[in-house]
Amino acid sequence: MVMSTSISHAPAPRHRRSRARSALVLGMAGLLAAAGVTALSGTAEAASTLGAAAAEKGRYFGAAVAAQHLGESGYAATLNTEFNSSTPENEMKWDAVERTRNSFTFGAADQIVNHAQSRGMKVRGHTLVWHSQLPGWVGGLGAADLRSAMNNHINKVMQHYKGKIHSWDVVNEAFQDGNSGARRSSPFQDKLGDGFIEEAFRTARAADPAAKLCYNDYNTDGINAKSNAVYNLVRDFKARGVPIDCVGFQSHFNSASPVPGDYQANLKRFADLGVDVQITELDIEGSGTAQANNYSNVVKACLAVSRCTGITVWGVTDKYSWRASGTPLLFDGNYTKKPAYHAVLSALGGSG
Ligand code: XIL
Repeated sequence: MVMSTSISHAPAPRHRRSRARSALVLGMAGLLAAAGVTALSGTAEAASTLGAAAAEKGRYFGAAVAAQHLGESGYAATLNTEFNSSTPENEMKWDAVERTRNSFTFGAADQIVNHAQSRGMKVRGHTLVWHSQLPGWVGGLGAADLRSAMNNHINKVMQHYKGKIHSWDVVNEAFQDGNSGARRSSPFQDKLGDGFIEEAFRTARAADPAAKLCYNDYNTDGINAKSNAVYNLVRDFKARGVPIDCVGFQSHFNSASPVPGDYQANLKRFADLGVDVQITELDIEGSGTAQANNYSNVVKACLAVSRCTGITVWGVTDKYSWRASGTPLLFDGNYTKKPAYHAVLSALGGSG
Protein backbone atom coordinates (compact mmCIF):
# COMPACT_ATOMS: atom_id res chain seq x y z
CA MET A 1 0.00 0.00 0.00
CA VAL A 2 2.79 2.28 0.86
CA MET A 3 4.35 1.23 -2.45
CA SER A 4 1.28 1.97 -4.53
CA THR A 5 0.76 5.39 -2.94
CA SER A 6 4.30 6.39 -3.60
CA ILE A 7 4.01 5.22 -7.22
CA SER A 8 0.83 7.13 -7.85
CA HIS A 9 2.48 10.34 -6.59
CA ALA A 10 5.69 9.77 -8.43
CA PRO A 11 6.32 11.98 -11.44
CA ALA A 12 5.82 10.38 -14.83
CA PRO A 13 8.93 8.70 -16.25
CA ARG A 14 11.30 11.12 -17.98
CA HIS A 15 10.50 9.97 -21.53
CA ARG A 16 6.77 10.43 -20.99
CA ARG A 17 7.21 13.91 -19.55
CA SER A 18 9.46 15.07 -22.37
CA ARG A 19 7.10 13.63 -24.99
CA ALA A 20 4.21 15.41 -23.38
CA ARG A 21 6.20 18.67 -23.33
CA SER A 22 7.22 18.24 -26.98
CA ALA A 23 3.63 17.75 -27.95
CA LEU A 24 2.65 20.87 -26.05
CA VAL A 25 5.43 22.91 -27.67
CA LEU A 26 4.51 21.62 -31.13
CA GLY A 27 0.88 22.38 -30.47
CA MET A 28 1.68 25.94 -29.37
CA ALA A 29 3.99 26.50 -32.33
CA GLY A 30 1.20 25.36 -34.62
CA LEU A 31 -1.28 27.72 -33.00
CA LEU A 32 1.14 30.65 -33.18
CA ALA A 33 1.98 29.90 -36.79
CA ALA A 34 -1.74 29.70 -37.59
CA ALA A 35 -2.18 33.09 -35.92
CA GLY A 36 0.62 34.51 -38.06
CA VAL A 37 3.01 34.93 -35.13
CA THR A 38 6.57 34.31 -36.28
CA ALA A 39 10.11 35.28 -35.41
CA LEU A 40 9.76 34.61 -31.72
CA SER A 41 13.48 34.23 -31.25
CA GLY A 42 15.38 37.45 -30.58
CA THR A 43 12.34 39.50 -29.69
CA ALA A 44 10.65 37.18 -27.21
CA GLU A 45 12.88 38.34 -24.37
CA ALA A 46 13.56 42.02 -23.81
CA ALA A 47 17.24 42.91 -23.86
CA SER A 48 18.69 43.43 -20.40
CA THR A 49 21.61 45.80 -21.14
CA LEU A 50 21.76 49.24 -22.71
CA GLY A 51 23.89 48.07 -25.62
CA ALA A 52 21.75 45.04 -26.43
CA ALA A 53 18.51 47.01 -26.14
CA ALA A 54 19.86 49.77 -28.40
CA ALA A 55 21.10 47.15 -30.88
CA GLU A 56 17.59 45.76 -31.15
CA LYS A 57 16.56 49.24 -32.23
CA GLY A 58 19.44 49.41 -34.73
CA ARG A 59 21.42 51.87 -32.59
CA TYR A 60 24.57 51.80 -30.50
CA PHE A 61 24.73 52.87 -26.87
CA GLY A 62 28.15 54.13 -25.83
CA ALA A 63 30.08 55.78 -23.04
CA ALA A 64 33.01 58.13 -22.82
CA VAL A 65 35.92 56.09 -21.47
CA ALA A 66 39.01 57.22 -19.57
CA ALA A 67 42.03 54.94 -19.99
CA GLN A 68 43.17 55.44 -16.40
CA HIS A 69 40.04 53.74 -15.02
CA LEU A 70 40.08 50.62 -17.21
CA GLY A 71 42.00 48.73 -14.54
CA GLU A 72 39.23 49.25 -11.96
CA SER A 73 37.12 46.11 -12.00
CA GLY A 74 33.74 47.78 -11.38
CA TYR A 75 34.42 50.34 -14.09
CA ALA A 76 35.51 47.77 -16.67
CA ALA A 77 32.71 45.36 -15.80
CA THR A 78 30.06 48.05 -16.15
CA LEU A 79 31.52 49.29 -19.42
CA ASN A 80 31.86 45.79 -20.85
CA THR A 81 28.41 44.65 -19.81
CA GLU A 82 26.30 47.66 -20.64
CA PHE A 83 27.86 49.53 -23.55
CA ASN A 84 28.68 48.66 -27.16
CA SER A 85 30.52 51.83 -28.16
CA SER A 86 33.34 53.79 -26.54
CA THR A 87 34.56 57.37 -26.99
CA PRO A 88 37.95 58.27 -25.51
CA GLU A 89 37.10 61.10 -23.13
CA ASN A 90 40.42 62.94 -23.53
CA GLU A 91 42.94 60.51 -25.00
CA MET A 92 42.49 61.39 -28.70
CA LYS A 93 42.54 65.15 -28.21
CA TRP A 94 45.32 67.17 -29.81
CA ASP A 95 47.17 67.79 -26.53
CA ALA A 96 47.13 64.06 -25.81
CA VAL A 97 48.31 62.76 -29.18
CA GLU A 98 50.51 65.57 -30.58
CA ARG A 99 51.81 67.59 -27.65
CA THR A 100 54.93 68.40 -29.69
CA ARG A 101 54.70 69.17 -33.37
CA ASN A 102 54.66 66.04 -35.53
CA SER A 103 55.54 63.75 -32.64
CA PHE A 104 52.59 61.46 -31.97
CA THR A 105 51.80 59.44 -28.84
CA PHE A 106 48.87 57.10 -29.08
CA GLY A 107 49.40 54.90 -26.02
CA ALA A 108 46.40 55.88 -23.90
CA ALA A 109 44.04 56.11 -26.86
CA ASP A 110 45.26 52.76 -28.16
CA GLN A 111 44.45 51.23 -24.79
CA ILE A 112 40.82 52.31 -25.15
CA VAL A 113 40.58 51.27 -28.79
CA ASN A 114 42.09 47.84 -28.05
CA HIS A 115 39.84 47.34 -25.05
CA ALA A 116 36.78 48.20 -27.13
CA GLN A 117 37.75 46.21 -30.21
CA SER A 118 38.59 43.05 -28.32
CA ARG A 119 35.08 43.15 -26.87
CA GLY A 120 33.26 43.93 -30.09
CA MET A 121 32.50 47.54 -29.20
CA LYS A 122 32.54 50.34 -31.76
CA VAL A 123 34.75 53.39 -31.21
CA ARG A 124 33.89 57.06 -31.83
CA GLY A 125 36.85 59.28 -32.56
CA HIS A 126 36.92 62.51 -30.53
CA THR A 127 38.19 64.96 -31.72
CA LEU A 128 40.51 66.26 -34.48
CA VAL A 129 40.13 70.04 -34.71
CA TRP A 130 39.07 71.91 -31.57
CA HIS A 131 40.15 75.15 -29.93
CA SER A 132 40.37 73.53 -26.48
CA GLN A 133 42.90 71.02 -25.14
CA LEU A 134 45.08 72.34 -27.93
CA PRO A 135 48.83 72.61 -27.27
CA GLY A 136 50.23 76.13 -27.21
CA TRP A 137 52.52 75.60 -30.20
CA VAL A 138 49.53 75.32 -32.53
CA GLY A 139 48.29 78.81 -31.67
CA GLY A 140 51.77 80.19 -32.25
CA LEU A 141 51.93 79.17 -35.91
CA GLY A 142 51.40 81.47 -38.88
CA ALA A 143 48.59 80.73 -41.32
CA ALA A 144 50.49 78.60 -43.83
CA ASP A 145 52.14 76.56 -41.11
CA LEU A 146 48.89 76.18 -39.20
CA ARG A 147 47.12 74.87 -42.30
CA SER A 148 49.77 72.24 -42.86
CA ALA A 149 49.86 71.35 -39.14
CA MET A 150 46.06 70.92 -39.10
CA ASN A 151 46.09 68.67 -42.15
CA ASN A 152 49.08 66.70 -40.86
CA HIS A 153 47.32 66.18 -37.53
CA ILE A 154 44.15 64.90 -39.21
CA ASN A 155 46.12 62.65 -41.55
CA LYS A 156 48.38 61.11 -38.92
CA VAL A 157 45.67 60.50 -36.34
CA MET A 158 43.11 59.15 -38.79
CA GLN A 159 45.67 56.95 -40.53
CA HIS A 160 46.74 55.49 -37.18
CA TYR A 161 43.14 54.46 -36.46
CA LYS A 162 42.09 53.75 -40.03
CA GLY A 163 39.33 51.15 -40.17
CA LYS A 164 38.81 51.20 -36.39
CA ILE A 165 36.64 54.29 -35.91
CA HIS A 166 32.99 54.31 -36.92
CA SER A 167 32.57 58.10 -36.65
CA TRP A 168 35.02 60.95 -36.16
CA ASP A 169 34.26 64.33 -34.63
CA VAL A 170 36.30 66.14 -37.26
CA VAL A 171 35.55 69.63 -35.98
CA ASN A 172 34.28 70.35 -32.47
CA GLU A 173 32.60 73.52 -31.17
CA ALA A 174 33.36 75.98 -33.96
CA PHE A 175 30.41 78.29 -33.26
CA GLN A 176 29.77 80.91 -30.61
CA ASP A 177 27.06 80.66 -27.99
CA GLY A 178 24.30 83.26 -28.00
CA ASN A 179 22.37 84.85 -30.79
CA SER A 180 25.09 85.87 -33.23
CA GLY A 181 25.35 82.60 -35.13
CA ALA A 182 29.00 83.59 -35.61
CA ARG A 183 32.09 81.47 -35.57
CA ARG A 184 34.03 81.16 -32.34
CA SER A 185 37.45 82.71 -32.21
CA SER A 186 40.19 80.04 -32.37
CA PRO A 187 43.61 79.76 -34.00
CA PHE A 188 41.93 77.93 -36.89
CA GLN A 189 39.14 80.45 -37.35
CA ASP A 190 41.29 83.50 -36.78
CA LYS A 191 44.13 82.49 -39.10
CA LEU A 192 42.49 80.28 -41.71
CA GLY A 193 39.03 81.86 -41.84
CA ASP A 194 35.65 80.18 -42.40
CA GLY A 195 37.16 77.69 -44.86
CA PHE A 196 39.01 75.73 -42.17
CA ILE A 197 36.02 73.50 -41.47
CA GLU A 198 35.62 72.55 -45.12
CA GLU A 199 39.34 71.90 -45.43
CA ALA A 200 39.34 69.70 -42.33
CA PHE A 201 36.45 67.60 -43.64
CA ARG A 202 38.02 67.20 -47.09
CA THR A 203 41.31 66.11 -45.53
CA ALA A 204 39.48 63.71 -43.21
CA ARG A 205 37.56 62.07 -46.04
CA ALA A 206 40.77 61.32 -47.90
CA ALA A 207 42.50 60.03 -44.75
CA ASP A 208 39.89 57.36 -43.88
CA PRO A 209 37.12 57.15 -46.48
CA ALA A 210 35.21 54.54 -44.43
CA ALA A 211 34.79 56.67 -41.31
CA LYS A 212 31.69 58.79 -40.88
CA LEU A 213 32.67 62.41 -40.53
CA CYS A 214 30.78 64.47 -37.94
CA TYR A 215 30.54 68.08 -36.89
CA ASN A 216 29.98 68.13 -33.09
CA ASP A 217 28.78 70.93 -30.78
CA TYR A 218 26.86 71.85 -27.60
CA ASN A 219 23.94 74.22 -27.05
CA THR A 220 22.83 73.13 -30.50
CA ASP A 221 20.40 70.57 -29.08
CA GLY A 222 17.27 72.66 -29.67
CA ILE A 223 16.37 75.05 -32.46
CA ASN A 224 18.25 78.30 -31.75
CA ALA A 225 20.67 80.75 -33.36
CA LYS A 226 23.67 78.50 -32.76
CA SER A 227 22.03 75.36 -34.14
CA ASN A 228 20.69 77.42 -37.08
CA ALA A 229 24.28 78.38 -37.88
CA VAL A 230 25.36 74.72 -37.81
CA TYR A 231 22.31 73.80 -39.86
CA ASN A 232 23.28 76.35 -42.52
CA LEU A 233 26.83 75.01 -42.58
CA VAL A 234 25.63 71.43 -43.10
CA ARG A 235 23.09 72.48 -45.73
CA ASP A 236 25.81 74.37 -47.60
CA PHE A 237 28.20 71.38 -47.37
CA LYS A 238 25.56 69.01 -48.70
CA ALA A 239 24.70 71.41 -51.53
CA ARG A 240 28.33 71.80 -52.58
CA GLY A 241 29.41 68.19 -52.09
CA VAL A 242 31.72 68.89 -49.15
CA PRO A 243 32.01 65.55 -47.32
CA ILE A 244 29.99 65.41 -44.09
CA ASP A 245 28.06 62.40 -42.81
CA CYS A 246 26.84 63.23 -39.35
CA VAL A 247 26.17 65.89 -36.77
CA GLY A 248 26.88 65.26 -33.09
CA PHE A 249 24.70 66.84 -30.43
CA GLN A 250 26.68 66.86 -27.20
CA SER A 251 23.58 67.15 -25.02
CA HIS A 252 25.07 68.32 -21.73
CA PHE A 253 22.00 69.27 -19.72
CA ASN A 254 21.36 70.85 -16.33
CA SER A 255 18.71 73.08 -14.81
CA ALA A 256 20.06 76.15 -16.61
CA SER A 257 20.22 74.22 -19.87
CA PRO A 258 17.39 71.66 -19.77
CA VAL A 259 16.46 69.15 -22.47
CA PRO A 260 14.80 71.43 -25.05
CA GLY A 261 11.17 70.81 -25.96
CA ASP A 262 12.14 70.86 -29.63
CA TYR A 263 15.02 68.40 -29.23
CA GLN A 264 13.43 65.79 -31.48
CA ALA A 265 12.38 68.37 -34.07
CA ASN A 266 15.92 69.69 -34.16
CA LEU A 267 17.43 66.20 -34.66
CA LYS A 268 14.88 65.62 -37.38
CA ARG A 269 15.62 68.80 -39.32
CA PHE A 270 19.31 67.91 -39.45
CA ALA A 271 18.53 64.33 -40.46
CA ASP A 272 16.35 65.71 -43.24
CA LEU A 273 19.44 67.40 -44.69
CA GLY A 274 20.78 63.90 -45.42
CA VAL A 275 23.16 63.39 -42.50
CA ASP A 276 23.05 60.98 -39.58
CA VAL A 277 22.60 62.51 -36.16
CA GLN A 278 24.21 61.17 -33.00
CA ILE A 279 23.85 62.09 -29.35
CA THR A 280 27.51 62.26 -28.46
CA GLU A 281 28.13 63.43 -24.88
CA LEU A 282 24.86 63.00 -23.03
CA ASP A 283 24.75 63.83 -19.35
CA ILE A 284 21.88 65.35 -17.40
CA GLU A 285 22.43 66.80 -13.95
CA GLY A 286 19.87 65.88 -11.30
CA SER A 287 18.59 62.79 -9.56
CA GLY A 288 15.64 60.48 -9.12
CA THR A 289 12.51 60.61 -11.21
CA ALA A 290 13.16 64.04 -12.73
CA GLN A 291 16.53 62.94 -14.09
CA ALA A 292 15.09 59.62 -15.22
CA ASN A 293 12.29 61.35 -17.16
CA ASN A 294 14.76 63.65 -18.88
CA TYR A 295 16.91 60.72 -19.94
CA SER A 296 13.85 58.86 -21.16
CA ASN A 297 12.79 61.83 -23.29
CA VAL A 298 16.23 62.06 -24.91
CA VAL A 299 16.22 58.35 -25.78
CA LYS A 300 12.69 58.54 -27.16
CA ALA A 301 13.64 61.52 -29.32
CA CYS A 302 16.55 59.58 -30.83
CA LEU A 303 14.40 56.51 -31.47
CA ALA A 304 11.79 58.69 -33.20
CA VAL A 305 14.34 59.92 -35.75
CA SER A 306 15.41 57.09 -38.02
CA ARG A 307 18.77 58.69 -38.80
CA CYS A 308 19.63 59.05 -35.09
CA THR A 309 22.12 56.20 -35.09
CA GLY A 310 23.35 56.13 -31.51
CA ILE A 311 23.71 57.64 -28.10
CA THR A 312 26.85 58.13 -26.03
CA VAL A 313 26.73 59.13 -22.38
CA TRP A 314 29.68 61.20 -21.19
CA GLY A 315 31.09 58.72 -18.72
CA VAL A 316 30.36 55.44 -16.97
CA THR A 317 29.92 56.54 -13.37
CA ASP A 318 28.98 59.76 -11.56
CA LYS A 319 32.18 59.63 -9.52
CA TYR A 320 34.41 60.17 -12.57
CA SER A 321 32.11 62.55 -14.44
CA TRP A 322 33.58 65.88 -15.52
CA ARG A 323 30.57 67.30 -13.66
CA ALA A 324 30.59 64.82 -10.76
CA SER A 325 28.82 67.17 -8.36
CA GLY A 326 25.78 67.17 -10.67
CA THR A 327 25.56 63.33 -10.60
CA PRO A 328 24.65 63.41 -14.29
CA LEU A 329 25.17 59.79 -15.36
CA LEU A 330 23.39 56.41 -15.26
CA PHE A 331 25.49 54.65 -12.59
CA ASP A 332 26.36 56.03 -9.18
CA GLY A 333 29.82 55.90 -7.64
CA ASN A 334 29.32 52.26 -6.63
CA TYR A 335 28.24 51.29 -10.16
CA THR A 336 24.68 50.84 -8.93
CA LYS A 337 22.03 51.45 -11.57
CA LYS A 338 20.18 54.71 -10.98
CA PRO A 339 16.52 55.42 -11.83
CA ALA A 340 17.91 57.12 -14.95
CA TYR A 341 19.46 53.81 -16.02
CA HIS A 342 16.17 51.97 -15.71
CA ALA A 343 14.38 54.74 -17.61
CA VAL A 344 16.88 54.55 -20.47
CA LEU A 345 16.73 50.76 -20.64
CA SER A 346 12.97 50.83 -20.68
CA ALA A 347 12.81 53.60 -23.30
CA LEU A 348 15.09 51.43 -25.45
CA GLY A 349 12.57 48.60 -25.14
CA GLY A 350 14.73 46.56 -22.78
CA SER A 351 13.95 45.35 -19.32
CA GLY A 352 16.05 44.69 -16.27
C1 XIL B 1 35.80 67.16 -21.17
C2 XIL B 1 36.30 65.97 -20.38
O1 XIL B 1 35.19 65.23 -19.95
C3 XIL B 1 37.14 66.43 -19.20
O2 XIL B 1 37.73 65.31 -18.58
C4 XIL B 1 38.22 67.39 -19.67
O3 XIL B 1 38.90 67.90 -18.55
C5 XIL B 1 37.62 68.53 -20.46
O4 XIL B 1 36.88 68.00 -21.54
N1 XIL B 1 32.77 69.04 -24.81
C6 XIL B 1 33.61 68.10 -25.39
C7 XIL B 1 34.36 67.17 -24.52
O5 XIL B 1 33.62 67.97 -26.62
O6 XIL B 1 35.60 66.82 -25.08
C8 XIL B 1 34.56 67.72 -23.13
O7 XIL B 1 35.18 66.70 -22.35
C9 XIL B 1 33.25 68.18 -22.56
C10 XIL B 1 32.66 69.28 -23.40
